Amino acid sequence: MGEKIVIFDTTLRDGEQSPGATMNVAEKVRLAQQLEKLGVDVIEAGFPITSQGDFDAVRTIAKSITHSKVAALARTNTQDIDRAWEAIKGAKSPLIHTFISTSDIHLKHQLKKTKEEVIRIAAKSVARAKKHTPDVEFSAMDATRSEVKFLAAVIEAAIQAGATRINIPDTVGYAIPSEFGALIRTLCHMVKGIEKVTLSVHCHNDLGLAVANSLVAIQNGVRQVECTINGIGERAGNTSLEEVVMAIHTRKDLFPFSTRIVPKHIFATSRLVSKITGMVVQPNKAVVGANAFAHESGIHQDGVLKKKQTYEIMTPESVGIAKSSLVLGKLSGRHAFKERLKEVGFRLSEKDFELAFTRFKELADKKREIYDEDIESIVAEEILRMPDRFKLIYLNVISGNVTVPTATVKMEVDGEVIQEAGFGDGPVDATFKTIKKITRTRSKLLQFVINAITGGTEAQGEVTVRLEEKGRTVIGQGADTDVIVASAKAYINALNKLEYRKKDLRGL
Ligand code: KIV
Ligand code: ZN
Repeated sequence: MGEKIVIFDTTLRDGEQSPGATMNVAEKVRLAQQLEKLGVDVIEAGFPITSQGDFDAVRTIAKSITHSKVAALARTNTQDIDRAWEAIKGAKSPLIHTFISTSDIHLKHQLKKTKEEVIRIAAKSVARAKKHTPDVEFSAMDATRSEVKFLAAVIEAAIQAGATRINIPDTVGYAIPSEFGALIRTLCHMVKGIEKVTLSVHCHNDLGLAVANSLVAIQNGVRQVECTINGIGERAGNTSLEEVVMAIHTRKDLFPFSTRIVPKHIFATSRLVSKITGMVVQPNKAVVGANAFAHESGIHQDGVLKKKQTYEIMTPESVGIAKSSLVLGKLSGRHAFKERLKEVGFRLSEKDFELAFTRFKELADKKREIYDEDIESIVAEEILRMPDRFKLIYLNVISGNVTVPTATVKMEVDGEVIQEAGFGDGPVDATFKTIKKITRTRSKLLQFVINAITGGTEAQGEVTVRLEEKGRTVIGQGADTDVIVASAKAYINALNKLEYRKKDLRGL
Protein backbone atom coordinates (compact mmCIF):
# COMPACT_ATOMS: atom_id res chain seq x y z
CA MET A 1 0.00 0.00 0.00
CA GLY A 2 2.56 2.60 1.04
CA GLU A 3 2.01 6.09 2.35
CA LYS A 4 -1.12 7.89 1.20
CA ILE A 5 -1.24 10.75 -1.29
CA VAL A 6 -4.21 13.01 -0.63
CA ILE A 7 -6.07 13.93 -3.82
CA PHE A 8 -7.50 17.44 -3.51
CA ASP A 9 -9.78 18.08 -6.47
CA THR A 10 -10.37 21.67 -7.53
CA THR A 11 -12.37 21.08 -10.74
CA LEU A 12 -15.33 22.94 -9.25
CA ARG A 13 -13.21 25.93 -8.23
CA ASP A 14 -10.02 26.41 -10.29
CA GLY A 15 -11.49 24.23 -13.06
CA GLU A 16 -14.50 26.51 -13.28
CA GLN A 17 -12.09 29.41 -13.77
CA SER A 18 -11.34 27.99 -17.26
CA PRO A 19 -12.51 30.54 -19.79
CA GLY A 20 -16.12 29.65 -20.55
CA ALA A 21 -16.50 26.73 -18.16
CA THR A 22 -19.31 28.08 -15.99
CA MET A 23 -21.44 25.46 -14.26
CA ASN A 24 -24.80 25.90 -12.60
CA VAL A 25 -25.71 24.61 -9.13
CA ALA A 26 -27.32 21.36 -10.33
CA GLU A 27 -24.32 20.61 -12.57
CA LYS A 28 -21.90 21.28 -9.73
CA VAL A 29 -23.76 19.03 -7.32
CA ARG A 30 -23.88 16.23 -9.89
CA LEU A 31 -20.15 16.60 -10.51
CA ALA A 32 -19.36 16.69 -6.77
CA GLN A 33 -21.26 13.41 -6.35
CA GLN A 34 -19.25 11.87 -9.18
CA LEU A 35 -15.98 13.13 -7.64
CA GLU A 36 -16.97 11.51 -4.35
CA LYS A 37 -17.65 8.24 -6.18
CA LEU A 38 -14.25 8.56 -7.87
CA GLY A 39 -12.71 8.67 -4.39
CA VAL A 40 -11.20 12.16 -4.15
CA ASP A 41 -10.22 13.08 -0.58
CA VAL A 42 -11.08 16.78 -0.85
CA ILE A 43 -13.58 18.52 -3.12
CA GLU A 44 -12.85 22.23 -3.38
CA ALA A 45 -16.41 23.26 -4.11
CA GLY A 46 -15.95 26.95 -4.88
CA PHE A 47 -15.11 30.47 -3.79
CA PRO A 48 -18.27 31.52 -1.90
CA ILE A 49 -17.62 35.27 -1.63
CA THR A 50 -17.49 35.71 -5.42
CA SER A 51 -21.21 35.34 -6.10
CA GLN A 52 -24.49 34.23 -4.59
CA GLY A 53 -24.51 31.39 -7.16
CA ASP A 54 -21.13 30.12 -5.99
CA PHE A 55 -22.19 30.40 -2.36
CA ASP A 56 -25.39 28.42 -3.01
CA ALA A 57 -23.49 25.76 -4.95
CA VAL A 58 -20.90 25.29 -2.19
CA ARG A 59 -23.59 25.14 0.48
CA THR A 60 -25.62 22.56 -1.44
CA ILE A 61 -22.54 20.45 -2.18
CA ALA A 62 -21.43 20.63 1.46
CA LYS A 63 -24.73 19.09 2.54
CA SER A 64 -24.81 16.40 -0.13
CA ILE A 65 -21.31 14.94 0.29
CA THR A 66 -20.43 12.42 3.00
CA HIS A 67 -17.14 10.67 2.23
CA SER A 68 -15.00 13.50 0.83
CA LYS A 69 -13.97 16.62 2.67
CA VAL A 70 -15.55 19.80 1.27
CA ALA A 71 -13.31 22.87 0.96
CA ALA A 72 -14.19 26.50 0.28
CA LEU A 73 -11.73 29.13 -0.87
CA ALA A 74 -11.29 32.51 0.82
CA ARG A 75 -8.87 35.40 0.55
CA THR A 76 -7.15 36.42 3.77
CA ASN A 77 -9.85 38.72 5.08
CA THR A 78 -12.54 38.20 7.67
CA GLN A 79 -15.44 38.72 5.27
CA ASP A 80 -14.17 36.06 2.82
CA ILE A 81 -13.35 33.58 5.56
CA ASP A 82 -16.68 33.97 7.36
CA ARG A 83 -18.58 33.66 4.08
CA ALA A 84 -16.62 30.49 3.21
CA TRP A 85 -17.51 29.06 6.60
CA GLU A 86 -21.21 29.96 6.18
CA ALA A 87 -21.17 27.96 2.94
CA ILE A 88 -19.43 24.83 4.24
CA LYS A 89 -20.54 24.62 7.84
CA GLY A 90 -23.16 22.01 6.90
CA ALA A 91 -20.46 19.65 5.58
CA LYS A 92 -19.61 16.47 7.43
CA SER A 93 -15.93 17.29 7.04
CA PRO A 94 -15.31 20.97 6.21
CA LEU A 95 -12.05 22.70 5.25
CA ILE A 96 -11.36 26.42 4.85
CA HIS A 97 -8.68 27.22 2.28
CA THR A 98 -7.22 30.71 2.57
CA PHE A 99 -4.53 32.27 0.39
CA ILE A 100 -2.38 35.35 -0.10
CA SER A 101 0.38 36.13 -2.59
CA THR A 102 4.00 36.01 -1.51
CA SER A 103 5.96 37.03 -4.63
CA ASP A 104 7.56 40.49 -4.85
CA ILE A 105 5.72 41.22 -8.09
CA HIS A 106 2.31 40.49 -6.52
CA LEU A 107 3.14 42.34 -3.29
CA LYS A 108 4.26 45.45 -5.14
CA HIS A 109 1.72 45.66 -7.97
CA GLN A 110 -1.35 43.83 -6.75
CA LEU A 111 -1.49 43.71 -2.96
CA LYS A 112 0.54 46.89 -2.34
CA LYS A 113 1.64 45.46 0.99
CA THR A 114 4.97 44.98 2.76
CA LYS A 115 6.38 41.56 3.60
CA GLU A 116 5.78 42.16 7.32
CA GLU A 117 2.12 42.96 6.61
CA VAL A 118 1.69 39.78 4.56
CA ILE A 119 3.14 37.64 7.36
CA ARG A 120 0.76 39.26 9.83
CA ILE A 121 -2.27 38.90 7.53
CA ALA A 122 -1.51 35.23 6.81
CA ALA A 123 -1.33 34.37 10.52
CA LYS A 124 -4.44 36.40 11.33
CA SER A 125 -6.53 34.79 8.60
CA VAL A 126 -5.55 31.27 9.59
CA ALA A 127 -6.42 32.08 13.19
CA ARG A 128 -9.80 33.43 12.06
CA ALA A 129 -10.51 30.28 10.02
CA LYS A 130 -9.46 28.11 12.99
CA LYS A 131 -12.20 29.71 15.06
CA HIS A 132 -14.65 28.06 12.69
CA THR A 133 -13.09 24.68 11.98
CA PRO A 134 -9.94 22.70 12.91
CA ASP A 135 -8.87 21.89 9.34
CA VAL A 136 -7.42 24.98 7.63
CA GLU A 137 -5.26 25.16 4.53
CA PHE A 138 -2.98 28.08 3.79
CA SER A 139 -1.68 28.77 0.26
CA ALA A 140 1.21 31.06 -0.57
CA MET A 141 0.08 32.25 -3.99
CA ASP A 142 2.83 32.57 -6.63
CA ALA A 143 5.14 30.66 -4.28
CA THR A 144 7.52 29.65 -7.06
CA ARG A 145 8.35 33.28 -7.87
CA SER A 146 8.72 34.26 -4.21
CA GLU A 147 11.89 34.94 -2.27
CA VAL A 148 12.47 31.62 -0.46
CA LYS A 149 13.38 33.09 2.95
CA PHE A 150 10.21 35.20 2.96
CA LEU A 151 8.09 32.31 1.68
CA ALA A 152 9.42 30.15 4.54
CA ALA A 153 8.61 32.88 7.06
CA VAL A 154 5.01 33.24 5.83
CA ILE A 155 4.49 29.48 5.92
CA GLU A 156 5.96 29.26 9.42
CA ALA A 157 3.60 32.00 10.63
CA ALA A 158 0.62 30.15 9.09
CA ILE A 159 1.64 26.91 10.79
CA GLN A 160 2.07 28.65 14.14
CA ALA A 161 -1.41 30.11 13.71
CA GLY A 162 -2.79 26.58 13.29
CA ALA A 163 -2.76 25.73 9.56
CA THR A 164 -3.06 21.98 9.07
CA ARG A 165 -2.26 21.99 5.35
CA ILE A 166 0.33 24.15 3.62
CA ASN A 167 -0.01 24.53 -0.11
CA ILE A 168 2.84 25.62 -2.42
CA PRO A 169 1.23 26.82 -5.66
CA ASP A 170 3.05 27.28 -8.93
CA THR A 171 0.37 29.83 -9.76
CA VAL A 172 1.69 30.90 -13.15
CA GLY A 173 3.13 27.53 -14.20
CA TYR A 174 6.66 28.91 -14.17
CA ALA A 175 8.65 26.23 -12.36
CA ILE A 176 10.49 23.35 -13.97
CA PRO A 177 10.66 19.99 -12.19
CA SER A 178 14.25 20.08 -10.90
CA GLU A 179 13.87 23.52 -9.31
CA PHE A 180 10.37 22.75 -7.96
CA GLY A 181 11.69 19.58 -6.28
CA ALA A 182 14.56 21.61 -4.82
CA LEU A 183 12.14 24.27 -3.52
CA ILE A 184 10.10 21.63 -1.68
CA ARG A 185 13.26 20.13 -0.17
CA THR A 186 14.47 23.57 0.94
CA LEU A 187 11.15 24.42 2.58
CA CYS A 188 11.14 21.08 4.39
CA HIS A 189 14.52 22.00 5.90
CA MET A 190 13.82 25.67 6.58
CA VAL A 191 10.29 25.78 7.99
CA LYS A 192 9.84 24.94 11.64
CA GLY A 193 6.82 22.68 12.23
CA ILE A 194 6.40 21.72 8.55
CA GLU A 195 6.52 18.04 9.49
CA LYS A 196 3.29 18.47 11.47
CA VAL A 197 1.22 19.61 8.48
CA THR A 198 0.14 18.03 5.20
CA LEU A 199 2.34 19.55 2.54
CA SER A 200 0.50 20.22 -0.70
CA VAL A 201 1.19 21.50 -4.24
CA HIS A 202 -1.05 23.21 -6.76
CA CYS A 203 0.57 23.45 -10.20
CA HIS A 204 -0.56 25.30 -13.30
CA ASN A 205 0.24 24.07 -16.76
CA ASP A 206 1.50 27.14 -18.61
CA LEU A 207 4.66 25.31 -19.69
CA GLY A 208 2.98 21.91 -19.86
CA LEU A 209 4.77 20.83 -16.67
CA ALA A 210 2.00 20.74 -14.06
CA VAL A 211 1.87 16.94 -13.77
CA ALA A 212 5.68 16.59 -13.86
CA ASN A 213 6.04 19.23 -11.14
CA SER A 214 3.41 17.56 -8.96
CA LEU A 215 5.14 14.18 -9.29
CA VAL A 216 8.57 15.56 -8.44
CA ALA A 217 7.01 17.33 -5.44
CA ILE A 218 5.73 13.97 -4.18
CA GLN A 219 9.22 12.54 -4.52
CA ASN A 220 10.47 15.38 -2.33
CA GLY A 221 7.99 15.07 0.53
CA VAL A 222 4.64 16.45 -0.64
CA ARG A 223 1.64 14.33 0.36
CA GLN A 224 -1.28 16.25 -1.15
CA VAL A 225 -1.77 17.10 -4.82
CA GLU A 226 -4.30 19.66 -6.00
CA CYS A 227 -5.64 18.79 -9.42
CA THR A 228 -8.61 18.88 -11.77
CA ILE A 229 -10.37 16.42 -14.05
CA ASN A 230 -9.10 16.75 -17.66
CA GLY A 231 -6.57 19.28 -16.29
CA ILE A 232 -9.01 22.16 -16.76
CA GLY A 233 -8.40 25.43 -14.94
CA GLU A 234 -7.23 29.01 -15.18
CA ARG A 235 -5.39 29.67 -18.52
CA ALA A 236 -3.57 26.47 -19.58
CA GLY A 237 -5.15 24.60 -16.69
CA ASN A 238 -4.01 22.65 -13.64
CA THR A 239 -2.41 19.31 -12.87
CA SER A 240 -4.63 16.69 -14.45
CA LEU A 241 -6.05 14.34 -11.79
CA GLU A 242 -6.19 11.32 -14.08
CA GLU A 243 -2.58 11.76 -15.23
CA VAL A 244 -1.05 12.21 -11.80
CA VAL A 245 -3.10 9.35 -10.31
CA MET A 246 -2.32 6.95 -13.15
CA ALA A 247 1.38 7.85 -12.96
CA ILE A 248 1.37 6.92 -9.27
CA HIS A 249 -0.56 3.71 -9.98
CA THR A 250 1.49 2.70 -13.02
CA ARG A 251 4.98 3.55 -11.70
CA LYS A 252 4.80 1.84 -8.31
CA ASP A 253 8.57 1.33 -8.62
CA LEU A 254 9.07 5.11 -8.34
CA PHE A 255 5.99 6.01 -6.31
CA PRO A 256 5.45 3.59 -3.41
CA PHE A 257 2.23 5.39 -2.50
CA SER A 258 -1.50 4.81 -2.60
CA THR A 259 -4.52 7.02 -3.31
CA ARG A 260 -8.23 6.53 -2.60
CA ILE A 261 -9.05 7.01 -6.27
CA VAL A 262 -11.00 4.22 -7.97
CA PRO A 263 -9.43 4.37 -11.45
CA LYS A 264 -12.34 2.62 -13.17
CA HIS A 265 -14.45 5.75 -12.56
CA ILE A 266 -11.92 8.06 -14.24
CA PHE A 267 -13.31 7.96 -17.77
CA ALA A 268 -16.95 8.56 -16.77
CA THR A 269 -15.84 11.50 -14.63
CA SER A 270 -13.81 12.93 -17.49
CA ARG A 271 -16.80 12.65 -19.81
CA LEU A 272 -19.12 14.27 -17.30
CA VAL A 273 -16.76 17.24 -16.87
CA SER A 274 -16.49 17.63 -20.62
CA LYS A 275 -20.27 17.44 -21.00
CA ILE A 276 -21.03 19.93 -18.25
CA THR A 277 -18.32 22.48 -19.07
CA GLY A 278 -18.54 22.05 -22.84
CA MET A 279 -14.74 21.70 -22.93
CA VAL A 280 -13.96 18.97 -25.43
CA VAL A 281 -11.10 16.62 -24.48
CA GLN A 282 -8.33 16.67 -27.08
CA PRO A 283 -8.04 13.25 -28.81
CA ASN A 284 -4.38 12.80 -27.83
CA LYS A 285 -4.98 13.69 -24.17
CA ALA A 286 -3.20 11.22 -21.86
CA VAL A 287 -5.39 8.62 -20.12
CA VAL A 288 -8.82 9.90 -21.27
CA GLY A 289 -8.35 11.11 -24.87
CA ALA A 290 -10.09 9.23 -27.70
CA ASN A 291 -6.68 8.12 -29.02
CA ALA A 292 -5.10 7.31 -25.65
CA PHE A 293 -5.48 3.56 -26.29
CA ALA A 294 -5.75 3.53 -30.10
CA HIS A 295 -2.93 1.75 -31.90
CA GLU A 296 -2.53 2.94 -35.46
CA SER A 297 0.78 1.75 -36.86
CA GLY A 298 1.02 -1.80 -38.17
CA ILE A 299 3.98 -2.66 -35.94
CA HIS A 300 2.13 -1.45 -32.84
CA GLN A 301 -1.08 -3.29 -33.79
CA ASP A 302 0.89 -6.46 -34.40
CA GLY A 303 2.57 -6.14 -30.99
CA VAL A 304 -0.67 -5.46 -29.12
CA LEU A 305 -2.38 -8.43 -30.77
CA LYS A 306 0.47 -10.67 -29.63
CA LYS A 307 0.74 -9.23 -26.13
CA LYS A 308 -1.00 -6.06 -25.00
CA GLN A 309 1.84 -4.92 -22.76
CA THR A 310 4.15 -4.51 -25.76
CA TYR A 311 2.64 -1.07 -26.35
CA GLU A 312 0.18 -0.55 -23.46
CA ILE A 313 1.41 0.53 -20.02
CA MET A 314 -2.12 0.51 -18.61
CA THR A 315 -5.37 -0.92 -19.92
CA PRO A 316 -8.35 1.11 -21.13
CA GLU A 317 -10.54 -1.03 -18.83
CA SER A 318 -8.50 0.05 -15.78
CA VAL A 319 -9.63 3.67 -16.28
CA GLY A 320 -13.18 2.68 -17.17
CA ILE A 321 -13.02 2.85 -20.95
CA ALA A 322 -15.20 0.15 -22.39
CA LYS A 323 -16.73 -0.16 -25.83
CA SER A 324 -19.88 1.96 -26.09
CA SER A 325 -22.58 -0.37 -24.94
CA LEU A 326 -25.85 -0.57 -26.80
CA VAL A 327 -28.35 0.14 -24.09
CA LEU A 328 -31.87 0.82 -25.15
CA GLY A 329 -34.19 1.15 -28.12
CA LYS A 330 -37.63 2.37 -29.11
CA LEU A 331 -39.41 -0.46 -27.30
CA SER A 332 -37.59 -0.07 -24.01
CA GLY A 333 -39.92 0.85 -21.18
CA ARG A 334 -39.75 2.92 -18.02
CA HIS A 335 -38.17 0.20 -15.92
CA ALA A 336 -35.32 -0.48 -18.36
CA PHE A 337 -34.66 3.22 -18.72
CA LYS A 338 -34.58 3.75 -14.95
CA GLU A 339 -32.18 0.82 -14.48
CA ARG A 340 -29.86 2.12 -17.20
CA LEU A 341 -29.90 5.63 -15.70
CA LYS A 342 -28.79 4.13 -12.38
CA GLU A 343 -25.98 2.22 -14.06
CA VAL A 344 -24.76 5.36 -15.83
CA GLY A 345 -24.80 7.02 -12.38
CA PHE A 346 -27.93 9.19 -12.32
CA ARG A 347 -30.51 9.09 -9.56
CA LEU A 348 -33.36 11.35 -10.60
CA SER A 349 -36.45 12.59 -8.80
CA GLU A 350 -39.79 11.32 -10.18
CA LYS A 351 -40.37 14.64 -11.95
CA ASP A 352 -36.92 14.68 -13.55
CA PHE A 353 -37.24 11.04 -14.48
CA GLU A 354 -40.50 11.73 -16.36
CA LEU A 355 -38.81 14.60 -18.21
CA ALA A 356 -35.82 12.45 -19.16
CA PHE A 357 -38.08 9.53 -20.18
CA THR A 358 -40.14 11.76 -22.50
CA ARG A 359 -36.95 13.04 -24.14
CA PHE A 360 -35.63 9.47 -24.42
CA LYS A 361 -38.80 8.36 -26.23
CA GLU A 362 -38.56 11.31 -28.62
CA LEU A 363 -34.96 10.44 -29.35
CA ALA A 364 -35.72 6.74 -29.77
CA ASP A 365 -38.27 7.67 -32.43
CA LYS A 366 -35.51 9.31 -34.47
CA LYS A 367 -32.61 7.03 -33.61
CA ARG A 368 -32.86 3.26 -33.38
CA GLU A 369 -30.11 2.66 -30.83
CA ILE A 370 -29.61 4.66 -27.68
CA TYR A 371 -26.16 4.56 -26.05
CA ASP A 372 -24.88 5.60 -22.62
CA GLU A 373 -23.51 8.78 -24.21
CA ASP A 374 -27.02 9.65 -25.46
CA ILE A 375 -28.42 9.17 -21.95
CA GLU A 376 -25.73 11.42 -20.45
CA SER A 377 -26.59 13.99 -23.06
CA ILE A 378 -30.32 13.85 -22.26
CA VAL A 379 -29.67 14.31 -18.54
CA ALA A 380 -27.16 17.13 -19.08
CA GLU A 381 -29.57 18.98 -21.37
CA GLU A 382 -32.91 18.34 -19.74
CA ILE A 383 -32.19 17.98 -16.05
CA LEU A 384 -28.97 19.66 -15.00
CA ARG A 385 -29.60 22.94 -16.75
CA MET A 386 -30.83 25.99 -14.86
CA PRO A 387 -34.20 27.57 -15.54
CA ASP A 388 -33.33 29.35 -18.76
CA ARG A 389 -34.19 32.88 -19.86
CA PHE A 390 -34.25 31.85 -23.51
CA LYS A 391 -36.01 28.69 -24.75
CA LEU A 392 -36.32 27.27 -28.24
CA ILE A 393 -39.88 26.36 -29.23
CA TYR A 394 -39.70 25.86 -32.99
CA LEU A 395 -37.08 25.95 -35.73
CA ASN A 396 -37.55 25.57 -39.46
CA VAL A 397 -34.63 26.05 -41.83
CA ILE A 398 -34.61 26.04 -45.60
CA SER A 399 -31.26 25.60 -47.30
CA GLY A 400 -29.69 24.02 -50.34
CA ASN A 401 -27.39 24.84 -53.25
CA VAL A 402 -29.92 27.10 -55.03
CA THR A 403 -31.77 28.67 -52.06
CA VAL A 404 -30.94 31.56 -49.80
CA PRO A 405 -30.66 29.87 -46.41
CA THR A 406 -33.61 31.04 -44.30
CA ALA A 407 -34.46 30.28 -40.70
CA THR A 408 -37.79 30.71 -38.95
CA VAL A 409 -37.40 30.56 -35.20
CA LYS A 410 -39.96 30.69 -32.40
CA MET A 411 -38.62 31.22 -28.90
CA GLU A 412 -39.72 32.01 -25.38
CA VAL A 413 -37.92 34.99 -23.88
CA ASP A 414 -38.72 35.59 -20.21
CA GLY A 415 -41.97 33.73 -20.78
CA GLU A 416 -43.01 35.76 -23.86
CA VAL A 417 -43.30 33.92 -27.20
CA ILE A 418 -41.50 35.65 -30.09
CA GLN A 419 -41.17 34.53 -33.70
CA GLU A 420 -38.77 35.88 -36.35
CA ALA A 421 -37.29 34.85 -39.68
CA GLY A 422 -33.87 35.71 -41.12
CA PHE A 423 -31.32 34.96 -43.85
CA GLY A 424 -27.72 33.90 -43.57
CA ASP A 425 -24.67 32.60 -45.43
CA GLY A 426 -25.65 29.07 -44.52
CA PRO A 427 -28.30 27.31 -42.39
CA VAL A 428 -26.36 27.73 -39.15
CA ASP A 429 -25.60 31.40 -39.85
CA ALA A 430 -29.29 32.07 -40.66
CA THR A 431 -30.34 30.31 -37.44
CA PHE A 432 -27.85 32.15 -35.23
CA LYS A 433 -28.69 35.55 -36.76
CA THR A 434 -32.40 34.98 -36.18
CA ILE A 435 -31.86 33.86 -32.58
CA LYS A 436 -29.72 36.95 -32.03
CA LYS A 437 -32.53 39.12 -33.37
CA ILE A 438 -35.10 37.51 -31.06
CA THR A 439 -32.93 37.62 -27.93
CA ARG A 440 -31.50 41.10 -28.71
CA THR A 441 -28.06 39.89 -27.66
CA ARG A 442 -24.68 41.16 -28.87
CA SER A 443 -22.30 38.31 -28.22
CA LYS A 444 -19.54 37.34 -30.63
CA LEU A 445 -19.21 33.75 -31.85
CA LEU A 446 -15.61 32.65 -31.20
CA GLN A 447 -15.83 28.95 -31.94
CA PHE A 448 -18.22 26.41 -33.44
CA VAL A 449 -17.49 22.65 -33.31
CA ILE A 450 -19.64 19.66 -34.34
CA ASN A 451 -18.98 16.12 -33.15
CA ALA A 452 -20.96 12.92 -33.48
CA ILE A 453 -21.83 11.58 -30.02
CA THR A 454 -21.78 7.96 -31.19
CA GLY A 455 -21.05 6.28 -34.52
CA GLY A 456 -23.30 6.03 -37.61
CA THR A 457 -25.14 8.56 -39.78
CA GLU A 458 -28.15 8.60 -37.46
CA ALA A 459 -25.94 9.54 -34.48
CA GLN A 460 -26.76 12.65 -32.50
CA GLY A 461 -24.68 15.64 -33.51
CA GLU A 462 -23.16 17.41 -30.54
CA VAL A 463 -22.42 21.07 -31.13
CA THR A 464 -20.17 23.20 -28.94
CA VAL A 465 -20.11 26.98 -29.34
CA ARG A 466 -17.97 29.55 -27.58
CA LEU A 467 -19.40 33.05 -27.22
CA GLU A 468 -17.90 36.25 -25.91
CA GLU A 469 -19.63 39.37 -24.63
CA LYS A 470 -17.93 42.25 -22.80
CA GLY A 471 -14.90 40.12 -21.94
CA ARG A 472 -16.99 37.21 -20.61
CA THR A 473 -16.59 33.90 -22.43
CA VAL A 474 -19.01 30.99 -22.18
CA ILE A 475 -19.32 27.59 -23.78
CA GLY A 476 -22.69 26.18 -24.82
CA GLN A 477 -23.59 22.66 -25.91
CA GLY A 478 -26.52 21.10 -27.68
CA ALA A 479 -27.24 17.65 -29.05
CA ASP A 480 -29.81 16.46 -31.55
CA THR A 481 -30.10 14.07 -34.48
CA ASP A 482 -30.45 17.23 -36.62
CA VAL A 483 -27.21 19.22 -36.50
CA ILE A 484 -28.95 22.56 -37.19
CA VAL A 485 -31.25 21.99 -34.21
CA ALA A 486 -28.19 20.94 -32.16
CA SER A 487 -26.48 24.18 -33.24
CA ALA A 488 -29.48 26.28 -32.19
CA LYS A 489 -29.62 24.49 -28.82
CA ALA A 490 -25.90 25.05 -28.24
CA TYR A 491 -26.16 28.73 -29.17
CA ILE A 492 -29.16 29.28 -26.88
CA ASN A 493 -27.44 27.35 -24.07
CA ALA A 494 -24.43 29.68 -24.37
CA LEU A 495 -26.69 32.77 -24.38
CA ASN A 496 -28.37 31.51 -21.19
CA LYS A 497 -24.96 30.98 -19.60
CA LEU A 498 -24.00 34.54 -20.48
CA GLU A 499 -27.12 35.72 -18.66
CA TYR A 500 -26.08 33.61 -15.66
CA ARG A 501 -22.53 35.02 -15.79
CA LYS A 502 -23.85 38.58 -15.66
CA LYS A 503 -24.94 37.81 -12.09
CA ASP A 504 -21.55 36.32 -11.17
CA LEU A 505 -19.15 38.72 -9.44
CA ARG A 506 -16.07 36.52 -9.82
CA GLY A 507 -12.95 38.62 -10.02
CA LEU A 508 -14.02 40.84 -7.10
O1 KIV B 1 -3.13 29.06 -8.59
C1 KIV B 1 -3.22 29.41 -7.40
O2 KIV B 1 -2.30 29.92 -6.77
C2 KIV B 1 -4.51 29.20 -6.75
C3 KIV B 1 -4.57 29.43 -5.27
C4 KIV B 1 -5.86 30.06 -4.85
C5 KIV B 1 -4.27 28.17 -4.55
O3 KIV B 1 -5.46 28.78 -7.37
ZN1 ZN C 1 -4.78 27.84 -9.29
